[in-house]
Amino acid sequence: MRTPLIAGNFKMFKTVPETVAYLIELRALVRDVHGVDIVVAPPFTAIHAAAAVVRDSNIAIGAQNLHWEREGAFTGEVSAPMLFVAGARVVIVGHSERRTLFGETNESVNKKMHAAIVAGLVPIVCIGETLEQRTRHETLAVLDRQIKEGLDGLTGAQLAGIVLAYEPVWAIGTGQNATPAQAGEAHFHIRQRLKQWFGLEASDRCRVLYGGSVKPDNIGTLMAAPDVDGALVGGASLDPKAFLAIIRGAAI
Ligand code: PGA
Repeated sequence: MRTPLIAGNFKMFKTVPETVAYLIELRALVRDVHGVDIVVAPPFTAIHAAAAVVRDSNIAIGAQNLHWEREGAFTGEVSAPMLFVAGARVVIVGHSERRTLFGETNESVNKKMHAAIVAGLVPIVCIGETLEQRTRHETLAVLDRQIKEGLDGLTGAQLAGIVLAYEPVWAIGTGQNATPAQAGEAHFHIRQRLKQWFGLEASDRCRVLYGGSVKPDNIGTLMAAPDVDGALVGGASLDPKAFLAIIRGAAI
């Protein structure tokens, strides 16, 4: 049985004081919530302060990106050990905005994922097709390539500890979420591939989240789709009460 996971991706929203105020409120709101793991990923600048607010609570702090080297002359980049020491325990890798706006590839995603694991961070590796790819009926082939190349070199034991997020690009920030049937089809396919490539035991333990316009009013039906183990939430995570409703909707 996989514990559901709800991860909030703040993207480029919230200053340090705004993040701290949000987490003070969220911490109190989720104090008695069980049966779900909770992650909040603020911008880099707020990670350290955020980690202090959630210490000894049921909320973990995530980052939204990382560089694969430990250190070096890479102006503007942040490494996995730096994130860990700042208090992050999770990191989002290969979000579609990074792939489309910042040129990330399956190869860079793969390097980042391995660097995260070495540093003790849980990577949430994002995959998903664009609208164009879906229209051309390439969805499952795109997912196969993203999984094969993105997870290259991963052992079964490592797979069990990472998280995947299926995020159809056309559903992100558009208000047009995938139907439970569309999400279910993709998640079923992903689980089959993980079984095939990493074995039954490891694939059974790897959580696969859905992402793309998840809101309090659709989390219930999305979670009911087989093989959906939680959600990666953008816009609706910015309001603690809406995020609480999503967290509650996923708890078992
Ligand atoms: P959204 O973003 O919930 O605002 O659609 C999801 C994501 O980008 O992870």
